[in-house]
Amino acid sequence: MSKRMLVATGGGDCPGLNAVLRALVKRAAFEPEWEILGSIDAFNGLLLDPMKLVELTPQKVAGIHVQGGTILGTTNKGGPFEWPVHNPDGTWSMIDRSADFMRRIQEQRIEAVINIGGDGSQRISQGLFELGCPIVGVPKTIDNDLSDTDFTFGFQTAVDAATDALDKLVTTAASHHRVLILEVMGRYAGWIALHAAIAGGAEVCLIPEIDYDIQSVLRTIDRRVTSGKGFANIVIAEGAKPVAGSMSFSQDVEPGAMPIRLGGAGLRLSQELKNAGCELDIRETILGHLQRGGRPNAFDRILASQFGVKAFELVLEQKWGHMVAYRHPDIVAVPIRDAIQHYNYVDPASDLVKTARGLGICLGD
Ligand code: F6P
Repeated sequence: MSKRMLVATGGGDCPGLNAVLRALVKRAAFEPEWEILGSIDAFNGLLLDPMKLVELTPQKVAGIHVQGGTILGTTNKGGPFEWPVHNPDGTWSMIDRSADFMRRIQEQRIEAVINIGGDGSQRISQGLFELGCPIVGVPKTIDNDLSDTDFTFGFQTAVDAATDALDKLVTTAASHHRVLILEVMGRYAGWIALHAAIAGGAEVCLIPEIDYDIQSVLRTIDRRVTSGKGFANIVIAEGAKPVAGSMSFSQDVEPGAMPIRLGGAGLRLSQELKNAGCELDIRETILGHLQRGGRPNAFDRILASQFGVKAFELVLEQKWGHMVAYRHPDIVAVPIRDAIQHYNYVDPASDLVKTARGLGICLGD
């Protein structure tokens, strides 16, 4: 009788998810007793009635490493511990279905689970592990905010998209003598913003880890005017905030979704600059999901493939409750418990921040 493994992709989509799936199925093909099942839309596939599970064969995953998104589908709402239920009065409640999850795992004769996802998904992995689930995690996020791994796949592709956008905006800023503001993703970490600002040559980069003073930003723009350059490019992370201010967000109303959706930092900065007397015309671009979709770059395909192969090998070693991680040049296993303990933020004293300052990039302080 074959051994069955369940794999799911959870949270926001991310370039490289399909490359992980392909890699682990290709690696599993060397151990023919294993049958790999994919759960559709994160763990929903196992929890729905009827279940939505698909067999992942080498034929099914052939060539998908170049595709964005995930062939299994995903969701960043709910999960086994917080399953949204529609009440008759139109409201929603969250119920804990983790015991049901464990029962279904047994009924389906699943001997290993691989959960590919960001911090929210890995919190679910840890919770399931504590209930006795034989689970291995694979970290994923464009935000690069998971600790215990040098990089997550998807991040470099997101940086490429942000840098490409900045390269285009620079030409308009220069031609029209304008201030162009580019708002990028990253949630509470400024990695995408900082990398894109350095790669694309921005004059200002505002990140959540360093609160900005609008006067400092204005002084940088004024210097650009007096020096004869006459334009400026600003990269702002969606989680950036002014000194003594708060992050810009909207309250999310989708049941089971994260209660806060960041957004609006770029428009707010534009208004603050106008209020502070900025003389140049200002335009804003919100890059949004263009950073998350599309083909993974070569770096992310390689890292995702390394994670996929290693995750399968952790299953063979029965390293339950562990997550694959990149510690250059190695791919290692770290306890999921440790990886979700704290976020990976940009250290304002780091060499990367020093590089930005050395290039004359204003960080708003
Ligand atoms: O965590 C990845 C991410 O893209 C963040 O950078 C962003 O804040 C969030 O997800 C957006 O989520 P959604 O796709 O639900 O709008």
